[in-house]
Amino acid sequence: MQPRELLRLWDEAESIWSQRQDDDAFHGYVSADFEAIHHSLRKLRKRTHTFLEWGSGLGVVAIMASRLGFDAYGIEVEPELVALADELAERFAATPTFAVGSFIPDDFDEQLANGDEFHKTVVTDRDAYGELDMELRDFDLVYAYPWPEEHGVFRNIVRTCGAKHTLLLRYDAREGLTLSRPAKNRPEASR
Ligand SMILES: C[S@@+](CC[C@H](N)C(=O)[O-])C[C@H]1O[C@@H](n2cnc3c(N)ncnc32)[C@H](O)[C@@H]1O
Repeated sequence: MQPRELLRLWDEAESIWSQRQDDDAFHGYVSADFEAIHHSLRKLRKRTHTFLEWGSGLGVVAIMASRLGFDAYGIEVEPELVALADELAERFAATPTFAVGSFIPDDFDEQLANGDEFHKTVVTDRDAYGELDMELRDFDLVYAYPWPEEHGVFRNIVRTCGAKHTLLLRYDAREGLTLSRPAKNRPEASR
């Protein structure tokens, strides 16, 4: 995407948010630093192909990934946000696949390590991997914007349910972006 088109995408997302921020569907939505993420995705596309945005909201990151050539997906628990993300993708000639549901794999619950907790992330819904016809381990790169207390549990999900090669790109308002490979030391036999 040319810089002008990227700016238009970010502006449109901002304007949707400012018009609808009081809707219930937006109560867990905060947008990340899209420019920094676009920069990282440009570097990562040389070595990763399948991309998943956890809690995709308006879908901006999955849209950018799709336009950069990734096979891009997004999972979002709020149906209204998925509808808005689909419309935004169409307006920006992007073809990510969005699904309504949870990004927390249904089989993850029992693997919560001591001290791992979710705060504002919704834990009641079923996962959406079936709807995408994908599993977490099918993704080369997962992007997420966890609440500050949730970075550990997000890493733990990829460590236990991702592939050994799955990269996790996390955004934090203070720390910026962090890239890790949570399952790199996992014994092969554990999945
Ligand atoms: C902090 S916002 C991030 C929005 C966008 N990904 C970004 O980085 O700009 C978190 C999003 O996750 C969604 N969400 C919360 N719990 C979820 C869950 N278990 N599965 C899928 N989406 C969830 C919220 O509705 C919200 O849209």
